[in-house]
Amino acid sequence: MSDCRPQVITCKAAVLWKAGEELKVEEIKVDPPKTGEIRMKMLFASVCHTDILYRDGFLPLFPRALGHEGVGYVEAVGENVKNVKIGDVVMPIYLGECGNCLNCKSGKSNLCHVYPLNLSALLPDGTSRMSICSTGEKLYHQLSCSTWSEYTVFDSNYMVKVDPKLPLPHASFLSCGFTTGFGSAWRTASVEKGSAVAVLGLGAVGLGAIEGARMQGAIKIIGVDLINFKGKKGTAFGMTDFINPKESGKSISELVKEATGGLGVDYCFECTGVASLLSEAIESTKVGLGTVVLIGTGTDPVGHFNIVPFLCGRTLKGTIFGGVRTHSDLPTIINKSVNKEINLEELLTPEFSLNDINKALDTTKHPDCVKVLIKF
Ligand SMILES: NC(=O)c1ccc[n+]([C@@H]2O[C@H](COP(=O)([O-])OP(=O)(O)OC[C@H]3O[C@@H](n4cnc5c(N)ncnc54)[C@H](O)[C@@H]3O)[C@@H](O)[C@H]2O)c1
Ligand SMILES: [Zn+2]
Ligand SMILES: [Zn+2]
Repeated sequence: MSDCRPQVITCKAAVLWKAGEELKVEEIKVDPPKTGEIRMKMLFASVCHTDILYRDGFLPLFPRALGHEGVGYVEAVGENVKNVKIGDVVMPIYLGECGNCLNCKSGKSNLCHVYPLNLSALLPDGTSRMSICSTGEKLYHQLSCSTWSEYTVFDSNYMVKVDPKLPLPHASFLSCGFTTGFGSAWRTASVEKGSAVAVLGLGAVGLGAIEGARMQGAIKIIGVDLINFKGKKGTAFGMTDFINPKESGKSISELVKEATGGLGVDYCFECTGVASLLSEAIESTKVGLGTVVLIGTGTDPVGHFNIVPFLCGRTLKGTIFGGVRTHSDLPTIINKSVNKEINLEELLTPEFSLNDINKALDTTKHPDCVKVLIKF
């Protein structure tokens, strides 16, 4: 009788060998999934700004199979996998959710203690499922995803099933950036009806924050970006005012205050990743009431931080994945996208093959590019 257990697969992946270098598309081996794991065949992936940070040396572990946004189908399952079957379309998510730990039970946090954000670049058992074909050298994973690989393996808690009615490129966009922004307004800040909001940086994360703020009932949503094209995208998601700080000699906080009768906003979402803008974000909010949600993940030091505006009754909150719980909240965002309450079509920009991964990364620097898609 033939052995029908999953075998090692040889395929291609985009590999980073050294910080700041171009990626190389290598032949790699992907092991079968172990107990509780699934192996996925990628269909689409996309690029989030955090990938650029990894390429440039954030948490340096090499060689590494990069990428953390994407969607594909379950090609093989390990023992004890009960939540999916072969052929199901899923997206890997870098946060799991047990439902029973202190944070899951609190209902206030998406940072589960049992299935945490895994920065070890290995699977939860401390090993890798990927290696370089020619040498056998172990490959590090990126978060629990490594989506710029034809096949990838992850723990079956770190994923969500995708409604077949959702276009696959849209699913890819929901697996990090857009959801992070949307969730920041919905889950992290719980923006109240009638609020005034500022969003610094109108990439997929910032556009998600605009959409989330709009759905929460914000009446003034000020988008801030150095590129006017991003302002057009902001309008498509519900932005009411646009500020390009390059077009005046004033600071962002001065401009936001001018647009809000001098008071500032109730909520400011920092989505540029420019660490030095943190003080500006704080000063853009209302004395005594304002909340800043820090989303951008820059590697540079914050620099001069003016503590007095912070002492004046403002709140600073950090977030991973916008506070969105993988199993409890993400299906709601998927449903809204299927029902076209959220129009992800606006994010669609150029499509590349895995072989052109470096061109794809370069394209993210173009002023008229919001999101880059990789089709397998
Ligand atoms: N916390 C999380 O869980 C999480 C998740 C995803 C992304 N991120 C981070 O969020 C940030 C945004 O990600 P993205 O994929 O949307 O990035 P992006 O590069 O597509 O968008 C950033 C935007 O900020 C604008 N910008 C840059 N400098 C600016 C300045 N000085 N003033 C105003 N606008 C400026 C850019 O023009 C661009 O439109 C990144 O730092 C990323 O690493 C965090
Ligand atoms: Zn938990
Ligand atoms: Zn991301």
